[in-house]
Amino acid sequence: MGYFFYLTLSFLYFLLFINGAIGDPLTIGSTCKAASQSDSKLSYDFCVAALKSDPKSRTADLKGLGIISIELSISNATNVVSNIAKLLKDKSIDPFAKTVLEDCLDLYSDAIPTLKEAVGKFNSKDYYQANVDVSSAMDASSTCEDGFKERKGVVSPLTKENHDIFQLTAISLAIIEMFH
Ligand SMILES: *[C@@H]1O[C@H](CO)[C@@H](O)[C@H](O)[C@H]1NC(C)=O
Repeated sequence: MGYFFYLTLSFLYFLLFINGAIGDPLTIGSTCKAASQSDSKLSYDFCVAALKSDPKSRTADLKGLGIISIELSISNATNVVSNIAKLLKDKSIDPFAKTVLEDCLDLYSDAIPTLKEAVGKFNSKDYYQANVDVSSAMDASSTCEDGFKERKGVVSPLTKENHDIFQLTAISLAIIEMFH
């Protein structure tokens, strides 16, 4: 009887410990610290600010933070698509910049459904496909930015947007990797 009680008590402590280990120290700070250590291009400060921008992140576990990060990329990419559409309406736009912007529009329009698929794959523990999907959205941001570099004197109007998507997808990839 005493032994059983002891076991029960130990089990309770164990549960509290697990809960503490999984629920508490997995704050945004420690997740972003681990993520930015695993990817030298990922900024810790960007990661913290981005995840904190969603109030759900305060009570989210690691998996929740992963989903939140992908959702941030989806809403970001959606905003970028409408920004590009606005830029394309400008009649005075340089013809070269226009062709690149059109490519960027295609890239980001494709990235949105791909990121939505990534949420489902991540939820169903298909970390491989989630990684492939998020990586392709990350590639969209660098392909878009590189397009403007192909002609001297052309300045990318999307540097901040591409940088933000790159960082957001880097957060997702680092978190997906933690489940791998
Ligand atoms: C994209 O996300 C970043 C980080 O959360 C934010 O600072 C930026 O305003 C967002 N951009 C758009 C166009 O939604």
